Amino acid sequence: MSASPIRVGMLGAGQLARMMALEGMPLGCEFSIYDTSGAPSAGIGTLYSDPENDQAHLQEFLDSVDVVTYEFEHLPLNLARNIESRKPLHPNVRSLATCQDREKEKTLFSELGIPTPRWRMARSAEELRNACEALGTPVVAKSATEGYDGKGQAVIRNPADAEAAWTQIGHDRLIVESFVNFTRELSLIAVRSSQGELACYPLVENHHHEGILRYTWAPAPGVSAAVEAAADDYIARLLNELDYVGALALELFETPDGLLANEMAPRVHNSGHWTQNGAATSQFENHIRAVAGLPLGSTALTRPSCMINLIGAEVDRERLLTLPDTYLHLYNKSIRPGRKVGHINVTADNASAIHNKVQAVLSCVSDCAPYPER
Ligand SMILES: Nc1ncnc2c1ncn2[C@@H]1O[C@H](COP(=O)(O)OP(=O)(O)OP(=O)(O)O)[C@@H](O)[C@H]1O
Ligand SMILES: [Mg+2]
Repeated sequence: MSASPIRVGMLGAGQLARMMALEGMPLGCEFSIYDTSGAPSAGIGTLYSDPENDQAHLQEFLDSVDVVTYEFEHLPLNLARNIESRKPLHPNVRSLATCQDREKEKTLFSELGIPTPRWRMARSAEELRNACEALGTPVVAKSATEGYDGKGQAVIRNPADAEAAWTQIGHDRLIVESFVNFTRELSLIAVRSSQGELACYPLVENHHHEGILRYTWAPAPGVSAAVEAAADDYIARLLNELDYVGALALELFETPDGLLANEMAPRVHNSGHWTQNGAATSQFENHIRAVAGLPLGSTALTRPSCMINLIGAEVDRERLLTLPDTYLHLYNKSIRPGRKVGHINVTADNASAIHNKVQAVLSCVSDCAPYPER
């Protein structure tokens, strides 16, 4: 068998595209990157830029690739359909459309028997108030589409506040969910190949601050075998139902009564960045293997890890790089408040040794969220 180049097209030119290309190139993949943001930062591959969103370079981009994937799910569906009619697109349009719309997503979870918080839809302030009363406050109201990093959301503690929340969110369709008093937030990434082969990474524990992921512990400490098996089963149902190819991330709430599914993302995910240094094959490599039609690599954890996000923060690189088992990943982005500019992975022989190492790392970072209590 020859190992001829596989030409992968990437929609989006941010850090996820960059990390996929960095890991796909040693496999013999070549990358063309299509950007409509006007602010590409990936700095890798051949760039096709349509900052006016007029698709002037779309044909050229498509001519240069064998297969297309993407780094973010807020893509216009008509663009995705147009591409899918001309080149293989992974994950497919149905997966993309489902993940773009919280109503479709929660409906699919329910159809597949995956437990979720109780939810209703609201198309007016009055329906929002009715949903608050039916579910019982507190609730979390979220725009059905376009949300990320906790944007387009409000916690409503009293039905009388529904009107103000409707105006504040400013969307024509909201999902309203019971507020879950979860024990902690977990997530799971799994990959499915074009042959239908499945592989799951271990469950990890995530900590957010001001709506943005700050720390991931891999593996999530103290997960029972039953919980791990339930999570693997949920994500397998999703991957198989959607005839999915690539990496899928599933965000979960752990409660005393078991797991509840929050949302999913049809791509590599920030809570999987630890896999670059703590797993046999990273999520980026495995996503590219899947979309390129190659066999998957092992998703086994090799070293307990902590991922630390750099959010609008400077790092003392000289000092950081003297620390053992510490891996810096910068995204080629200028620093702005709230902007993800990089992450640091720390690994250790055992989970309890991680925390002191993280403290040493944090002393090299200008601004970081409080490190969670254990
Ligand atoms: N029903 C709920 N009950 C309690 N907390 C919730 C609920 N839904 C969301 N949250 C909290 O809000 C956070 C953001 O919600 P969600 O993941 O749905 O939105 P998002 O904007 O897509 O976020 P991200 O881009 O960070 O994944 C969750 O990680 C969780 O901490
Ligand atoms: Mg989320």
